[in-house]
Amino acid sequence: MRNFSFYNPTKIHFGEGQIAKLSKEIPPGSRVLVTHGGGSIFNNGVWAQVEQALQGFSISRFGGIEANPQFDTLLRAAEQAKAEQCDFILAIGGGSVIDGSKFIAAVLCYDGDPLDLLTGTKASAALPLGCVLTLAATGSESNPHGVVTHAERQEKLPFFSPLLFPRFAILDPRCTFSLPPRQIGNGVVDAFVHTIEQYLTYPADAPLQDRYAEGLLLTLIEEGPKALENPEDYNVRANLMWCATQALNGLLGCGVPQDWATHMIGHELTALYHLDHAQTLAVILPALLAERRDSKRAKLLQYAERVWQQHEGSEELRIDNALAATREFFERMGVATRLSAYQLDGGVIPQVLAQLKQHKLTSLGEHRDIDLEVSARILLRAL
Ligand code: NZQ
Ligand code: ZN
Repeated sequence: MRNFSFYNPTKIHFGEGQIAKLSKEIPPGSRVLVTHGGGSIFNNGVWAQVEQALQGFSISRFGGIEANPQFDTLLRAAEQAKAEQCDFILAIGGGSVIDGSKFIAAVLCYDGDPLDLLTGTKASAALPLGCVLTLAATGSESNPHGVVTHAERQEKLPFFSPLLFPRFAILDPRCTFSLPPRQIGNGVVDAFVHTIEQYLTYPADAPLQDRYAEGLLLTLIEEGPKALENPEDYNVRANLMWCATQALNGLLGCGVPQDWATHMIGHELTALYHLDHAQTLAVILPALLAERRDSKRAKLLQYAERVWQQHEGSEELRIDNALAATREFFERMGVATRLSAYQLDGGVIPQVLAQLKQHKLTSLGEHRDIDLEVSARILLRAL
């Protein structure tokens, strides 16, 4: 196992009714910037609970943070927070609102050009942030990462700082009952792919991390379809919510090689063609696994055996079956796995490659050998 340092300070309040804990978690006397997306929190009762819990706090509400949060929108939120002298941020939503709020938290403590914070400059201070999660998917609720979209530059820009871990995260599975099927599917696929990217590389003498990853994958496979069938099954939602958090809170990736190529190629597809984040993953992951079947052979066989119960037949057959089952699972979750299903064809390949080159994403994967030629072959398989 490789050396690692593990740190995750986010306090989790999990379960029904936990929104009431907001009043204990936000320091008394805070001036709170409350951020959210479009209208969903008003229609599903989440806002009513938050408003109740925040009685007595001074609140400035900023709505309209988009899916794939936009740089310009977030700067407007930061302006509002500055004008209102906010000193705490409460994000209510999914990955986009939480990521966007992390960026706002950093911008408010930075004197230079905010774009610096997305192009290499690490935040040296940030406002404290808490969140109420309404969509189980990204793990942003208890990690220090974010991704902001810059529309003019057609870029999704990732950033990271240990200062940006939320101080606390409220995870009430009931908040997810109102998700439309498309977002249920997206959430399960995103958490599944986060797990795969920290698991399906090469053996690293880390049996605990392997079994932990397999536990997450098996749970997502079992519970995911149930959420589509019965959206108000509390226990199903609770299991999915906890899986999604665990898939990207840092623990799974401790001491093991990782391969984030699917995410990196996927981000370019979202920036260029506006596919949902998870749609890009559902398209790229099966293609990437097929392209990398030799270098990932040992782990693919383990994945086939332990996750998809492929115990018999030749190695090639077991791998084929595992790859087919992965694709079928995404499709079963309602997330299409071919670029053609999103009206995209081979014409996109040169554009995606140009973006990857521009962003210096030319040596991806656990062996850093996914260059532009390999990415081109992956995209070709994804058509
Ligand atoms: O804006 P509202 O009206 O709230 O609607 C949202 C949005 O349209 C809706 N929604 C959320 N909760 C709902 C709900 N609708 C009904 N009921 C609810 N309870 O869902 C839509 C999508 O929301 P969004 O936050 O965009 O989804 P998700 O959580 O999948 O986040 C995606 C973003 O996270 C980034 C992605 O790149 C993308 O920008 N990621 C962040 C990561 C991280 N911080 O670690 C890692 C991920 O790999 C990912 O890159
Ligand atoms: Zn993701």
